[in-house]
Amino acid sequence: MSVRVDVRAAGREVIERFEAAGQGHVFRFLDDLPMRAAQALVAQAASIDLAHVARLAAAPKADSGARRIAPPGDELVRLGGDTAARREAARERGLEELRAGRVAVVVAAGGQGTRLGSSAPKAMWPAGPTSGKPLLQWHAEKVVHWSRELKRAIPFFVMVSPATARPTADLLRWHRFCGLDATWVRTPCQAELPALDDEGRLLLATTSRIAMAPNGHGGTYRALADAKLLDLLGDFGFTTISYVQVDNPLIQPVDPVFVGLHVEAGSRISSKSVVKTGPSEQVGVFARIDGSPAIVEYSELTPAQSEATDVNGELLYGQGNIAAHCIDLAFAQEMARTELPVHRARKSVRHVDGSGNAVTPSAPNATKLETFLFDAIPLAEQSLVMETSRAREFSPIKNATGTDSPESARNDLVALFRGWHDRAGVPAARGLLEVDPRLAPDEEAFRRLHGVATGA
Ligand code: UTP
Repeated sequence: MSVRVDVRAAGREVIERFEAAGQGHVFRFLDDLPMRAAQALVAQAASIDLAHVARLAAAPKADSGARRIAPPGDELVRLGGDTAARREAARERGLEELRAGRVAVVVAAGGQGTRLGSSAPKAMWPAGPTSGKPLLQWHAEKVVHWSRELKRAIPFFVMVSPATARPTADLLRWHRFCGLDATWVRTPCQAELPALDDEGRLLLATTSRIAMAPNGHGGTYRALADAKLLDLLGDFGFTTISYVQVDNPLIQPVDPVFVGLHVEAGSRISSKSVVKTGPSEQVGVFARIDGSPAIVEYSELTPAQSEATDVNGELLYGQGNIAAHCIDLAFAQEMARTELPVHRARKSVRHVDGSGNAVTPSAPNATKLETFLFDAIPLAEQSLVMETSRAREFSPIKNATGTDSPESARNDLVALFRGWHDRAGVPAARGLLEVDPRLAPDEEAFRRLHGVATGA
């Protein structure tokens, strides 16, 4: 008996199951594969629950149905103008939580970065304008600052996916955990789901591997739970998760004001927002759906809703989601047990055709099944949205060029640092400029570093 026949025999049950479900084509190259590759393909197929995938693919669209959409209510907190005292109180409360060791940081870094077009994970993208420090190190060093300031370790969990796990773990090791306490640095891995073509058929990424995609940032809850990290946090008295995404170098993973507001309000999940650049900016906005706080995708708003303004001329749906959240630990546990709605995203997925030739599509050719972290918001009995400033906290790296690209993020970082220098009266180098996140992750720390009174 040839080795291939052997693999077919050993995998008969799996192969038959796939054939019965109309997915037998994934084994089309099996007989030509080397033994190990053939075994790996059968093992991968065995791990896929086809009935579950079919159910997800057929589920009604997460945003379908007649939903009553209204602007956000009093969950929206805008700390501008004469709110200095409230801001200060929140900051003090947040610092108390941090000092007591109740706040952990989670960075989502499991995405495939398709639009950026790099084969390496986004976590490795050089973010430091002059140092070229990778994005993940950039975030980690802000946490290092706080850890030194508070004289205590802050958990730094980086959610990865099977595609980003290895290089991300290597990066952390090469950089000696970026100066963090290695015992509190973990890389939980999110689950994957297969990508489907327009006929609902699985795609082959190579002749021996079924094309898979991470299950969306909504997979964070379960990834943390499966790695027993939620239990670990609970055992050590942590109560708040500060969640950020790796592709936004401006975001503050440790923000005492945000933590303070979240805790004071008894919020289960809090979010940061920025004012939209205009009605046509394609970003999810904070709203109420059937009375509950939620995020509405830009595509769900009618043109009239997108453009509607209040008496001050501000957009009614003008608070854009920047994917930074504080999440109550017990709520995260609850969400890890909850089926979040599944969204179907049209994406370009590289695959091999019927002859085994690699195809790189120039337009979206497949559907990925994803859950979204923020779909937990309507399920929370208490939530909060804190408006922050775009210039201070939002410049994500999504596309290779243009808006939300490495270039725009670098320009925004440099402009931010220049502003800190100018307002503090500290001379700044011309051209590219960088402030070491370990020394000063934010303007307040920068002023303290230079002996300039804060708020002066
Ligand atoms: P995006 O939704 O922008 O996706 O993720 P992406 O993978 O970075 O890029 P595209 O869409 O393929 O071009 C926003 C953030 O959420 C994380 C990403 O790593 C990024 O930091 N993410 C996304 C996950 O951790 N897991 C996922 O399944 C999806």
